[in-house]
Amino acid sequence: MPDQKTFYLTTPIYYPSDNLHIGHAYCSVAADTVARFKKQEGYDVYFVTGTDEHGQKIERKAKDKGVTPQAYVDEIVAGIKKLWQLMDVDYDDFIRTTDERHVRCVQGIFRKLFEQGDIYKDHYEGWYCTPCESFFTELQLKDGRCPDCGRPVEKTREEAYFFKLGKYQQWLIDYIEQNPDFIQPASRKNEMLNNFLRPGLNDLCVSRTSIKWGIPVDFDAAHTVYVWLDALTNYISVLGYGSSDDSLYRKYWPADVHLVGKEIIRFHTIIWPIILHALGEPLPKQVFGHGWLVLDGMKMSKSLGNVVDPVALAGRYGSDAIRYFLMREMPFGSDGQFSYEALLKRLNADLANDLGNLVSRTVAMVEKYFGGDVPAPESYTDVDAALISLAEATPAKVRAQMDELQFSSALSEIWALIGECNRYIDVTAPWVLCKSEEGAHRLKTVMYVLCECIRYVGVLIAPTMPQTPALLFGQLGLTDAAMMTLDSLAQFGRLPAGTHVCKGDALFPRIDIAKELADILPTPKAEPAPQAKPAPKAEVKDVPAGDGVISIDDFFKVQLRVARVLTAEKVEGSDKLLKLTLRLGADEPERTVVSGIAKFYTPESVVGRQVALVANLKPAKLRGILSQGMILCASDAADSKLTLVSVGEGMEDGATIR
Ligand code: ME8
Repeated sequence: MPDQKTFYLTTPIYYPSDNLHIGHAYCSVAADTVARFKKQEGYDVYFVTGTDEHGQKIERKAKDKGVTPQAYVDEIVAGIKKLWQLMDVDYDDFIRTTDERHVRCVQGIFRKLFEQGDIYKDHYEGWYCTPCESFFTELQLKDGRCPDCGRPVEKTREEAYFFKLGKYQQWLIDYIEQNPDFIQPASRKNEMLNNFLRPGLNDLCVSRTSIKWGIPVDFDAAHTVYVWLDALTNYISVLGYGSSDDSLYRKYWPADVHLVGKEIIRFHTIIWPIILHALGEPLPKQVFGHGWLVLDGMKMSKSLGNVVDPVALAGRYGSDAIRYFLMREMPFGSDGQFSYEALLKRLNADLANDLGNLVSRTVAMVEKYFGGDVPAPESYTDVDAALISLAEATPAKVRAQMDELQFSSALSEIWALIGECNRYIDVTAPWVLCKSEEGAHRLKTVMYVLCECIRYVGVLIAPTMPQTPALLFGQLGLTDAAMMTLDSLAQFGRLPAGTHVCKGDALFPRIDIAKELADILPTPKAEPAPQAKPAPKAEVKDVPAGDGVISIDDFFKVQLRVARVLTAEKVEGSDKLLKLTLRLGADEPERTVVSGIAKFYTPESVVGRQVALVANLKPAKLRGILSQGMILCASDAADSKLTLVSVGEGMEDGATIR
């Protein structure tokens, strides 16, 4: 028998926070969905998650609470494990950076890199952002604050070890260029190359003496290992790398995919590959940077106070419903808005109506017309054949989307089949067929086709919605596990006739959206009436008002920002418009902007460029696409020439133009 193929995937390891929100659950649910799908495909899957427990932030929080850092993290980690249980995130191992196995692995790696000359001792002077656990140079700061999160930074000078990142810069550029699948989605690859690698890599400070809550450098105990070097190592320490038993490492490494949020892709595609390469180890096959779940236009985060609690959501609607929403609502790789209204609409439309009704109607009809026994089909008409061939084609379509981690498209393929089943009921009209003898024969085939399609659906939704298939198969009367595998979908018609269906509760109850929203959303507080502002005094007396003259206050109403083009494509049916995705910085959601530059710029020529964006323009729909801002161009009166307004070298994405 050939060896079973392995598949190793990871989530990031989470900071121990006492309220992980639905944005955190997003990544774990996605990873769990992949793991379950790959298991269905027959892979030997290893799926790892864990917690990132060291650093100054934890040290301070524990101190505030009057407990040791270890006691502080232990309690939180127990809560995180409970959350994953609630969300059916079924990992194979959970690595904690405080585990002895991890500590020893990190120390071994640090020592090896030091002994081979990739790590050396020097002095560090710079700015440290505690929440981000990152060092910055003076130049990198934005208005004197952390360029990633905007919070205050602390000046630091101390003896420190450095890792020679710069030595590997060209090797990494070549590697990324030669391995186009390594960084996904592709737009993130350009961002890494253009924003970080090509401008040049500084050596990285990889130890601290002022932070005690970390892994000590074993040959120089005054130093603790930099948290990112510590954290990234989890992906191999969990497999026993460098230990006396590294069998898991030999079996599963290199990882097939690291799933990470877009703001930490930089650490995973620059620092991590260089560490591995310096150690002489192979690189993960892929790092996939997913987008953020956004609430009211801002990344969900505890410090912004806009988090949605997954425990409350799963408690109210069931974890399968939440998992479905997370995987269905936005393409993996892009940001997506979370709103209760969107959630409830999806639950009603897709789950209660499309899926729930299909199952309950079919089971009820098999009970009514055949005493509950699924009839054997007699002969297939064209209408049946069309549905059967769609059912047979669906697993391959789902697989193609899952291979690209396009969960939303994979689910749309399954829902296309569900939609066709519902239409098939309307077209075949079983309630008419049952009235004639000829119709009664045809009814057998119709009921069989529907039950078999429902079996297909049950198998295909299982990776995303692990609990629902058992309920669905229960109603279908299926008990044979061999009927619930992906392989069993290779050929339509394996459902044994005579299976006894069993009507149960609605799989997903319909929700009264207005009532539910009134129940769950906080009542808005009455806003105090806005104070009338005194009209700004004209400062420049000798310029007449009117004739298009505006005051400086008027001008400052326009927010002009530097934005980087991540992706660009032509708008279908228009020769003028390009649809652009823009990045304004690590802590802001990406934006879509439709711009009339297609006659002057190809999509490829603008990707990676910085542009000037009017950032506070009221969003407007252009050709059905919501455009969130406008980019500035210079053009002549006849519009025969046009160039993008450009920004000088070295400005951070998101910088203000004034
Ligand atoms: O970054 N939407 O940990 P973390 C989508 N310890 N994903 C979100 C999100 C949102 N609103 N908010 C957070 C760390 N995440 C490090 C990782 S790995 C060696 C070390 C995602 O707890 C975020 O993008 O801050 C990240 O991938 C994950 O949650 C953990 O974030």
